[in-house]
Amino acid sequence: MTRHFLQDDDLSPAEQAEVLDLAIELKAKPYAARPFEGPKTVALIFDKTSTRTRVSFAVGVADLGGVPLIIDSQTSQLGKKESVADTARVLERQVAAIVWRTYAHAGLEEMAANTTVPVINSLSDDYHPCQILADLLTIKEHKGALAGKTFAYLGDASNNMANSYLIGCATAGMHVRIAGPAGYQPAAGVVARATAIAAETGGSVEVFTDPKLAIAGADAVATDTWVSMGQEAESAQRIADFAGYTIDADLMALAAADAIFLHCLPAYRGFEVSAEVIDGPQSVIWDEAENRLHAQKALMVWLAERA
Ligand code: CP
Ligand code: NVA
Repeated sequence: MTRHFLQDDDLSPAEQAEVLDLAIELKAKPYAARPFEGPKTVALIFDKTSTRTRVSFAVGVADLGGVPLIIDSQTSQLGKKESVADTARVLERQVAAIVWRTYAHAGLEEMAANTTVPVINSLSDDYHPCQILADLLTIKEHKGALAGKTFAYLGDASNNMANSYLIGCATAGMHVRIAGPAGYQPAAGVVARATAIAAETGGSVEVFTDPKLAIAGADAVATDTWVSMGQEAESAQRIADFAGYTIDADLMALAAADAIFLHCLPAYRGFEVSAEVIDGPQSVIWDEAENRLHAQKALMVWLAERA
C-alpha cells in the first residue's frame, strides 16, 4: 500500500522519529540517498504562493537524484477544466511522487485516493505537516530529545499551523500548549485527536485564550501570521482580534530563559512577533527554514521506500 503524508498523524510516533533521524543523517551527507536516480520526476503543484516550500522541495528532489517539475495551477488544467482524480491518473504514469500546496484539504485526500504514487501535503487550509517536521528537527537540534519538552504556539489557533503543531508535537511526545483568542480556537476534533496521541506518547495538550499562561516556562515558542493565504479579505478584522498576542520581549521573557523562538515564515514584524524577538538571539528561524530541505528529503526517501 502506497503511503501518503497528508496530515501529521500519517506518521506514527515511531515513524516520525525514524524520519527525523534520517533527516539528521541526510543533513550531514546530503547526497547519501538517491531514490529518484534515473532521474525520476517529482511533481510539485502550487495553488498558493510559496518561497521556502518551492525551493526546498525542488532542491531536495534534485539532491535525491530526481528532477522537480513545478506546476503552477494557474497555468494547468487542474481544478478548472479537469478533476483531481483525472489529474492523479495522468501524473502517476509519469512521476514518482506528487507534492501539492492547495486550499481545501479534501482535494489532497481525493488525489491520494486516485493514485499509486505517494502524495505529500505541502500546505492545505487545514494542515502544514512538512513544516512541523522541519520545526521538530530544529527543536531537536537545539534542545535535544523532543519527548517531555514544552512547546507553546500563540496566535491563530484555528489555522493550519496550529492544527499541525497540535498533532505533530503530540506525536513527538511533547507538552503542547496552544493559545488563541475566542473565535480563533482549534476545532474540537483536532484537539481530541492530539489528546489521544499524547496519551500514547506521554505528551499533553492544553488550549488557552491567555497567551501568558500558554508561554510560561516553555522550551520552544512559535507563532504564525494572523492572516493566512486565502483570508486576505479578513485582514483588518483579524489584526483587531489578535491584539495582545504579539510575541514581544515582555511575553518571550515568560518562557524558559533558554527558550527558542520559531516562525514558519513569511513573518509580519510588529504584528504576530516584534522585530526584537524574531531577529534576536533566541530566534532559530533560519535553521528552521533550512530544515525544510532536510526534513522533506528524509520524508521523500521514507515514502519512496514504501511506494
Ligand atoms: N513556511 C512556508 O511554507 O513558506 P512558503 O510559503 O514560502 O513556502
Ligand atoms: N498559516 C500560513 C502559513 C504560511 C506558510 C498560511 O497558510 O498562509
